[in-house]
Amino acid sequence: MRVDGKELRPIWFDRARGIVRVIDQRFLPHELIIKDLTHVDEVIRTIKDMVVRGAPLIGATGALGVYVSLVQDGARPGDDNYIEDECRRLKDARPTAMNLFWGVDRVWDAVQVHSSPEVRIEVALKEALEVVEEEAVNCRKIGEFGSSLIEKIWDQKNGEPVNILTHCNAGWLACIEYGTATAPIYTAFDKGIPVHVWVDETRPLNQGARLTAWELGKHGVPHTVITDNAGGHIMQHDMVDLVIVGTDRTTRAGDVANKIGTYLKALAARDNDIPFYVALPSSTFDWSITDGVRDIPIEERNPDEIRYVQGLCNGEIREVLVPPAKSPCANHAFDVTPARLVTGFITERGICRADEASIMALFPEKKTK
Ligand code: MRU
Repeated sequence: MRVDGKELRPIWFDRARGIVRVIDQRFLPHELIIKDLTHVDEVIRTIKDMVVRGAPLIGATGALGVYVSLVQDGARPGDDNYIEDECRRLKDARPTAMNLFWGVDRVWDAVQVHSSPEVRIEVALKEALEVVEEEAVNCRKIGEFGSSLIEKIWDQKNGEPVNILTHCNAGWLACIEYGTATAPIYTAFDKGIPVHVWVDETRPLNQGARLTAWELGKHGVPHTVITDNAGGHIMQHDMVDLVIVGTDRTTRAGDVANKIGTYLKALAARDNDIPFYVALPSSTFDWSITDGVRDIPIEERNPDEIRYVQGLCNGEIREVLVPPAKSPCANHAFDVTPARLVTGFITERGICRADEASIMALFPEKKTK
């Protein structure tokens, strides 16, 4: 996507220098810092510390992480135990997003049939860069399918702007291009359909206020940042036409894990008859499970993310303590929205209802019987 006239992605391979580079998302929107990833430990830390975050981006980073570990492994050709351990360490960096396991496994599966270290490195890079490009294409398709929903609402509103609520950052920073939840918004906006986005701030790390608002602003999309708790109120007062969120893992039966607070938005949307859509590439489906509340591991992060709030103060990025220093805090990072509260999924293959039969109709190769 274009930022201040420059094409930018959250991750790329710098061919001239032979290294993986990422945007350090921890300091946006106030500072745009680029980091080099030359060692697998750095890749793992980058995922853990949320230098990169968002399910498709974590998947792409994990995929390139396998390449980085193979380059490092040059000194000990043929040691599969070492590289399998590195893959495991990469997959352990965060527990909820399906894409991480998918990305790492995909590259390792492509590599392990070869024995020559040089060929392995070449194959790993090629496969990882295919993951990156495919996810960009998937998000563009999600945008095309999803914008039809926005267009339909626009027709019904006789040309009035369509108000869309989104949670967390499921934009291009969380993916490669376009985003998942934001792709239909960018596509509709680029077609000239008037849209306005309600951006949940998304405590504790404020991915909405910091990242989604930054992205939308850079693209010129009208938006307003709201507190996480404002969604119910604005839905009751006809200020929301449509909710679109992303997801970190969705079961084959349609239960959706996404950033903490998504479930409450789905409940409020259902109570107010507002369509609640989830946008995702197929790499986010966990085809092995059906019950999300029981089977999706929910990450618990450092409580300091709740204790301290980061922002700009006199031109410097600072952190300040909010609750009493001794109050215990608990940081559940995701929740699960049951399929019954989801109106539908927007995928790279089209839109479907949130039930196993409809999902399988789009992805017949995943049918088990
Ligand atoms: O903890 P994060 O910032 O990695 O969580 C990200 C989200 O919850 C996104 O909504 C999700 O990954 C969808 S990304 C397109």
